[in-house]
Amino acid sequence: MPGGTTAPDNPPIEDRDVTAQYPLRGDVAVLVPAAGLGTRLGPGAPKALRELRGVPLLAHALRRIGEAPSVGCVVVAVPPDATTDLRPYLPGRIELYAVEGGPTRQASVAAALALAPESYKIILVHDAARAFAPPDLVERVAAAVRGGHQAVIPVLPVVDTIKQVDDTGHILTTLDRSALRSVQTPQGFQRAVLEAGHRNAVDGHTDDAGLVEKIGVRVFTVPGSDLAMKVTHPTDLALAEFLLGPST
Ligand code: CTP
Ligand code: MG
Repeated sequence: MPGGTTAPDNPPIEDRDVTAQYPLRGDVAVLVPAAGLGTRLGPGAPKALRELRGVPLLAHALRRIGEAPSVGCVVVAVPPDATTDLRPYLPGRIELYAVEGGPTRQASVAAALALAPESYKIILVHDAARAFAPPDLVERVAAAVRGGHQAVIPVLPVVDTIKQVDDTGHILTTLDRSALRSVQTPQGFQRAVLEAGHRNAVDGHTDDAGLVEKIGVRVFTVPGSDLAMKVTHPTDLALAEFLLGPST
């Protein structure tokens, strides 16, 4: 694993070193919405700029994206007034652009998409809040889009029983868990598909696959990763710290 040693009793959940497995293609642009406030994380700096082991979450995310050989370009939607220099967190071969995000995640992704150079026909959208998603996951999603799928999302099985409730707090129905999936990022798209999804967008979507589903695109699933958990609540930072393994 690059950048550190790992004690045998706490091995990494996934090996981050994927450079040997995949050719260096650089044909993918990754949009990174990072402009959210992190309200559920509690008071402080915008979530993407909160630090874990002395490094902002956004930088953790960029480091891992930068290790994926498919990636040639990254466009970050940054919080207003952000001044962090992001360049040191990506290898020199990757183009980097930043744009101020919008009031919603959807607006932030749209702003980043508008800035991605036209030459990139495969676009991934990856939440900065999923800062520990391994490069291998980026490759898995990119490969499925390159292989011909119009839209690709990483998913995990749902572990809890899920019930639908009414507005008085009473159960309406119990859903069939075996048919449900928990959805992560990066989500991958053929560029024209993502652009069409955003052109026809209505508010209220929490992911980009939801936008393209609305225009009739079939969305393919690939296995997600425990490491791609979204840092949302304060306990998630503690969990992320554990998942990262011992510090060096
Ligand atoms: N995001 C964004 N622009 C927004 C809102 C969210 O770029 N206006 C980004 C966040 O920075 C995050 C991702 O979208 O990387 C997923 O959003 P979420 O986890 O909800 O983050 P926040 O909106 O920052 O958190 P909260 O909802 O608790 O305020
Ligand atoms: Mg939010």
